[in-house]
Amino acid sequence: MRALCWLGADGLAVRQVPDPELRNSADAIVRVRRSATCGADLPLLAGRAPALSVGDVLGHEFLGDVVEVGPGVRRHRVGDRVVVCAAVACGNCWYCRQGLYACCDNGSTGPAAAEAAWGQPTGGCYGHPRSAGGFAGSHAEYVRVPYADVGAFAVPEPVDDDRAVFASDAVPAGWLAAELGEVSPGDVVAVWGAGAVGQMAAQAALLRGADRVVVIDRYPQRLGLAQRHVGAETLDYLSVDVPAELRERSGGRGPDVCVEAVGMAWDGTEPRSLAERFAAAALPGAAPDRPIAVREAVHACRKGGTVVVLGTFTGFVDTFPLGAVMQKGLTVRAARQHGQRWIPMLLDRMARGEIHTGHLATHHLPLEQGALGYDLFRTRADGCLRAVFTP
Ligand SMILES: NC(=O)c1ccc[n+]([C@@H]2O[C@H](COP(=O)([O-])OP(=O)(O)OC[C@H]3O[C@@H](n4cnc5c(N)ncnc54)[C@H](O)[C@@H]3O)[C@@H](O)[C@H]2O)c1
Ligand SMILES: [Zn+2]
Ligand SMILES: [Zn+2]
Repeated sequence: MRALCWLGADGLAVRQVPDPELRNSADAIVRVRRSATCGADLPLLAGRAPALSVGDVLGHEFLGDVVEVGPGVRRHRVGDRVVVCAAVACGNCWYCRQGLYACCDNGSTGPAAAEAAWGQPTGGCYGHPRSAGGFAGSHAEYVRVPYADVGAFAVPEPVDDDRAVFASDAVPAGWLAAELGEVSPGDVVAVWGAGAVGQMAAQAALLRGADRVVVIDRYPQRLGLAQRHVGAETLDYLSVDVPAELRERSGGRGPDVCVEAVGMAWDGTEPRSLAERFAAAALPGAAPDRPIAVREAVHACRKGGTVVVLGTFTGFVDTFPLGAVMQKGLTVRAARQHGQRWIPMLLDRMARGEIHTGHLATHHLPLEQGALGYDLFRTRADGCLRAVFTP
């Protein structure tokens, strides 16, 4: 089959790779209809830790048709149109039974690296290196879906492919932020990052009754989408003092809930710190993550409020403002999305028109143009919010 393979820093090309096969009785094989880019791909694409191997297939947000099922699959049949949760989880371990699917004990085929880095293994993810799951990505004609009954969901008829694909990751990630922040009616919520994840976090906050939601970014097209399609207020962080402006919009206190949806993205204007420059020179690929928006969120949040870190961080961060967290009595929460818990409910809301994802797929390309799609997405050129590939 054809797949978009990583060829080294910022290099991608479509290559011929072996077709996936059923390996376990709970597996399904899905023929991909749509597969989307994600901010989580950018550090991988650049060759930052954890590193991909040349030939690895990227992509973890996808939807397709079931073409083969193992004998243990009960919920799906050949021909079903399914969206697949980006995170791989067994559905059966202690964590999965608590609904903490992204923390699954059995979701990764290479738990040693996670145990060394984080103390415990975590669930897997498609299109990530062997050390972080080991499941081939979805920018391909076919994908093997392990634990298919747990991670694949039938898509209701009214939700078309270009909208449904976002139920794989961005929509549940946004929902997670509102849950972790316990957003309540009347709250003021600020969201750093107007990528698809930030847009969906803003939408989830409004659905939970937030009074005002303010999305912060530097790209006017992304901010415009958050205004028009989500109903959020916006701030351009290049032209305003963000914490001061947020205080202004929250009765002088600061937002009740601050969501960081930026992660290791490098769009920040802040110069690299000394420690970062040292680490980059001493150990290329393992430079500390830059928690620029996390720092600003902690600074801006009202006393006693909650900061939710949705952005992906994999290693260490430099100059984390623990003093402000302690002195202001903040709650800091972070997680990868537990989509298996919410995707059916979110698909229903999408079918009823309560959750809008129609504006996220700004660029539709054949898989053959995957490298171009990532160029547009990485540089945010031509207003690209998400490139969506059709194999
Ligand atoms: N927790 C989860 O389950 C989950 C799921 C999916 C993605 N993610 C992570 O969420 C993050 C966002 O994903 P995405 O796909 O929307 O990414 P994206 O790259 O499309 O968007 C990130 C946005 O952050 C903006 N940004 C950069 N620096 C900023 C700053 N200082 N202040 C405000 N905005 C700033 C960028 O301009 C960009 O628009 C990534 O780190 C991704 O890995 C987490
Ligand atoms: Zn993603
Ligand atoms: Zn599990």
